[in-house]
Amino acid sequence: MKPTVTVTDLLKMKQGKEKIVSLTAYDYPFAKMVDEAGVHIILVGDSLGMVVQGKSSTIPVTMDEMIYHTRLVSAAARYALVVGDMPFMSYQASLSDAVINAGRFLKEGGAAAVKLEGGAGVSHIIKAISDASIPVQAHIGLTPQSVHKMGGFKVQRDEERLLADAKEVEAAGAFSVVLEGIPAPIAKKITAALSIPTIGIGAGPDCDGQILVIHDILGMTDRKLPKFVKQYENLGELARKGISSYVKEVKEGAFPKEEHCY
Ligand code: KIV
Repeated sequence: MKPTVTVTDLLKMKQGKEKIVSLTAYDYPFAKMVDEAGVHIILVGDSLGMVVQGKSSTIPVTMDEMIYHTRLVSAAARYALVVGDMPFMSYQASLSDAVINAGRFLKEGGAAAVKLEGGAGVSHIIKAISDASIPVQAHIGLTPQSVHKMGGFKVQRDEERLLADAKEVEAAGAFSVVLEGIPAPIAKKITAALSIPTIGIGAGPDCDGQILVIHDILGMTDRKLPKFVKQYENLGELARKGISSYVKEVKEGAFPKEEHCY
């Protein structure tokens, strides 16, 4: 069995120009499949608020919910580095909240690192958490927890600010940074300017790695997919077909048959 991916392995991958693959997961069975497929980083994203809980944003997701899902994913992961996503208001109000909540992801959730949203404005928080020996993945550009401040889920195009944010989070000690909803040429410049790996989502092909939401790539959501998503399979359609067959057979008395009886 291959050893578990570490934050230093990810740094070496950037240096060796080896692409980093990241994908979200929220429960044991999917995390097991994702891990066995060779994904390097499993993010237990607060996107679960939208794709698992059916909410219209990630804002309502709580710490306890995140810890629960992180625990399910950690139970399955053998190879991938598990990153727990810090939910809205779990790190903004005080440094002490931030460090205590980040610690819960490692102590209770079994994660090896945490992710939080924001650039220069949260660099002091990234520093406090990584000073407590908790690796932090930063997340800049389109940051869904700031949906109300941004006036919607909008591509971020302010090159100067994005570059400054990226450099600040690196200087604060982040081991990696997610670049979301950023024009590809800007993401390319950020990737070249940093020594830590960039993981893109809607940020073009030149990032050091890519991440997508598992429900989006497998067709398990009814939300309108953003332009940057590629749907690789349609599990939603397959599931609906299977469920309809079960409903039909039970109604018609075709299930259970003799082979299903004791
Ligand atoms: O919550 C999430 O899943 C994320 C990724 C999409 C980067 O933040």
